[in-house]
Parts: sequence; structure tokens; C-alpha cells
Amino acid sequence: MKNKLLKVFLSSLAISLLLLVSACGTSEKTTTGSSDKPASGETQHKKLRIVTDATYAPMESLDGDKIVGFDADILDAVMKAAGYDYELVNVGWDPVFVEVQGKTADAGISSITINKKRQMTYDFSLPYFESINKILVPKDSSIQRGADLKGKTVAVQNGTTGQEIAEKVLGKDSQHIKKFESNVLAIMELLKGGANAVVADNAVVEEYAKNNPDKNLKVITDPSFSSEFYGIMLPKGSKLKVDLDKAIKQIIDDGTYTKIYKNTFGTEPNIDALKKQF
Ligand code: ARG
Repeated sequence: MKNKLLKVFLSSLAISLLLLVSACGTSEKTTTGSSDKPASGETQHKKLRIVTDATYAPMESLDGDKIVGFDADILDAVMKAAGYDYELVNVGWDPVFVEVQGKTADAGISSITINKKRQMTYDFSLPYFESINKILVPKDSSIQRGADLKGKTVAVQNGTTGQEIAEKVLGKDSQHIKKFESNVLAIMELLKGGANAVVADNAVVEEYAKNNPDKNLKVITDPSFSSEFYGIMLPKGSKLKVDLDKAIKQIIDDGTYTKIYKNTFGTEPNIDALKKQF
């Protein structure tokens, strides 16, 4: 009797063990065989929410309800290279910072200049674009350089590096700096005569002046303005950084970056200047 019970126990134990081993075998197969994507931590299976302020052509703007532009194309290439599914959402400039800091978004791409101040709160991908601030003025303006903004009224997008430049010349709390929620609104203020100049990123003011010849605007370059680099902005400590950096390097090396750059600006990118920042 005792023996029989032991036999039953042992054989059911053997069956359980067999089942366990085969289950392990199956799950192991699934993990290795299901995907050729790199293992990339907790966000691998989650659709990333990436936020932007799509009022900054040719970098990011709306075409109907589609977000288009250099940043949108770069982001798409980077996400493909890194193996992530994502959605790019137009939330506006200030909310980009709120969402990334509060982690309601996984990242922000919006022509965001990497600087010391922002690096205290955010992490950034490797730089993917070099930029410089320029001054947009009416064709008949006497403004020839940054210093000439003194005594004038300057319109800027609130919280941008363009605002910082205006503050350097006019003073931090100057009443003559008009701050707007978007760069489009800053340019509208210039057009209606409420400001003498707009300070913003070169690609954007040059594109505007070129596409709107009837508005009689010109772009002023100040050689004392320093160059800036855009990065994809991430919450501090984000695990995405490793994968995004790798993907940025990859799209530069395989020619995708150059293709997107030429398609947007019609010129060759200065890859060496960019890579020097890596
Ligand atoms: N590069 C500037 C900055 O980071 C301006 C960027 C504004 N971007 C935008 N999508 N409106 O401050």
C-alpha cells in the first residue's frame, strides 16, 4: 500500500517536472526567436509618447493634422533604427518641458537647444543639429547686429534661447521684450508693427523670410551669437538615452541623416562639426 502511494507520488512528480522543463523550453524559444530587436529595457514594448511644438517650420509644423519637418523625419528614422513604436504629439512649447519633466511624455523633440540650464533638469540625446540665433527685421530696418536691439522692441518665443539673447542686450526684465507662446505669434507681432525684431533660430527665420517675400523682411546675422545644438530631450535618468544615441549615430553613418537634411534644406550637412560634439 505504502509502496503504491509512493509510486503514484513519484510518477506525478516526474510528470510535473517534465511539464515544467518543457514550459521553460517553450518560453526560452519565444524570447530568443520572436524578435530581432535589441533588448532595450522596460520601454521596449510600450508605444512612446513624444511631444513637440509644431509651430516652427521647417523643423516642426503642421500639414493638416500631420506633424512634418526635419525633426519629424529625424525622429522617425531614429525610432526605426532603435526599434521603438511611437506617437509624436503637438502639445505646444511650454507643455513640452512640463510633460518631459513630469514623465507624462517619454521625450520631446522641438528644436530644443542643449544647454547647461536645461541639463540640470533634463537629459538629452547626442546632438543631431547645429543652429544659431538670427534676427528677423523689416527690410528697411537700421538694425545691423545684436547690440542694435538696445532701445528697440523685440518679440521672442517665451522660454527660448532667442529670449536669452534679447535679455542679454535689453536687460532681464526689460519691458521691451515681448514674449509669445509660439514663434509664429512673435513674427505676427513684428508684421503688425508691435516689435522691431524677432530673435529665433536661423533655419526658422530664414525659411520665413524666403517663403514670404511680400512681407519685406531680412535676416541679420550677428557673428557674436554662438552656435547651439539640438537634442532630443528626456526625463533625467531615462533609459532611452542609450538606444537613441546609438540610433542617431547609426542614421548618420548609414546616410539616412544626410538624405533627410538635403531633403529639408537642399544643402549638405556638416557631419564633422556635429560629430565633434559627440
Ligand atoms: N532652439 C531654441 C531653444 O531651444 C528655440 C526652439 C523653439 N522650438 C519650437 N518648436 N518652437 O530655446
